Amino acid sequence: MSTVLEELNQPAVASYAGPLLRVRDLVKRFPITSGVILQRTVGMVHAVEGVSFDLDEGETLGLVGESGCGKTTTGRCILQLYRPTSGSILFEGKELTTLRGRELQAMRRDMQIVFQDPYASLNPRMTVGTIVAEPLVIHHIGTRAERKERVRELLDVVGLNPQFTNRYPHEFSGGQRQRIGLARALALNPKLIICDEPVSALDVSIQAQILNLLEQLQQELGLTYLFIAHNLSVVKHISDRVAVMYLGKIMESAPSAELYDNPAHPYTFMLLSAIPIPDPSVERSRARRVIEGDVPSPVNPPSGCVFHPRCFRAKEICALRVGDFDPVAGTLAVEGKGGGRHPHEGPLVGAR
Ligand SMILES: Nc1ncnc2c1ncn2[C@@H]1O[C@H](COP(=O)(O)OP(=O)(O)OP(=O)(O)O)[C@@H](O)[C@H]1O
Ligand code: SF4
Ligand SMILES: [Mg+2]
Repeated sequence: MSTVLEELNQPAVASYAGPLLRVRDLVKRFPITSGVILQRTVGMVHAVEGVSFDLDEGETLGLVGESGCGKTTTGRCILQLYRPTSGSILFEGKELTTLRGRELQAMRRDMQIVFQDPYASLNPRMTVGTIVAEPLVIHHIGTRAERKERVRELLDVVGLNPQFTNRYPHEFSGGQRQRIGLARALALNPKLIICDEPVSALDVSIQAQILNLLEQLQQELGLTYLFIAHNLSVVKHISDRVAVMYLGKIMESAPSAELYDNPAHPYTFMLLSAIPIPDPSVERSRARRVIEGDVPSPVNPPSGCVFHPRCFRAKEICALRVGDFDPVAGTLAVEGKGGGRHPHEGPLVGAR
């Protein structure tokens, strides 16, 4: 019989050549209900409204946007923890949105999530050994002794002492708990990890350690990451490409360096403007645009380009046209006569 480690380290059988993950026109709406006994739907939260992107194997896509823009919902839809309202999610070419039962369970081995809050995401009554071994138990992998060996190996991989298996989460610091969460996510040797703000709750110095660990693990294990964050500065170094989300839609997506040096969308420009530049002379002279006001309600999103109420380049036409994102070309297109390109004129320079 093969050991748990051999079983998990088997190479992929099929030779699939496309992107590891392909998301197309993903929509997720949550009903708002009223009434105690006879519940009526009185509205919809438009959490994700037509998100599309590709994610290649070994790549990191940073998904950035203000609170409530639909980042977590996108991640949870990919994992089928939320069933999408519509749209397609292909993982290694296989449609996930129609999978059920055992087939879905089997696909879940390849996709894991690391949560924002390392305090809340670990069961305080379980030992570290039980927490990290849990995915192996759920998927009936290995004997008890083999699982113990795998847990020790995983703790070592994430930089924790393998002797810690009998300790409880409260005995660890925030950074160490996030390492435990990472060990659990790695237990089944996944291909894709959705990192949902994995460093937001940590001190800045610890953030860097966890980001470095994620990068190191990616190189060693060939992992693919969807890295969710509030802030463009957090994802800058870890991401190959960055997608900027606003009110359930992707506003702009580009290779990391391009997006930071030459933002094409006013929202990206404004998010970059909010990041201070360490050099005081550059900081003083740069063009700046501060985002004012709150994000509009996703229950009743603005017409046309959803960003128009806060956009410094908005024109009357922006409220009428439908801003659309072409995921394949990576360009911004706008419907309507004379459309095809984003209507703002002139380059957006000096954001950083
Ligand atoms: N289970 C749910 N039921 C109803 N509405 C939900 C549910 N989950 C999320 N929402 C709503 O969907 C919208 C998007 O939420 P989501 O958690 O995806 O945003 P986010 O970008 O991850 O925000 P944050 O940065 O604060 O984590 C929000 O308006 C939120 O209130
Ligand atoms: S379409 Fe109009 S409102 Fe929307 S980002 Fe472009 S310029 Fe601004
Ligand atoms: Mg979230």
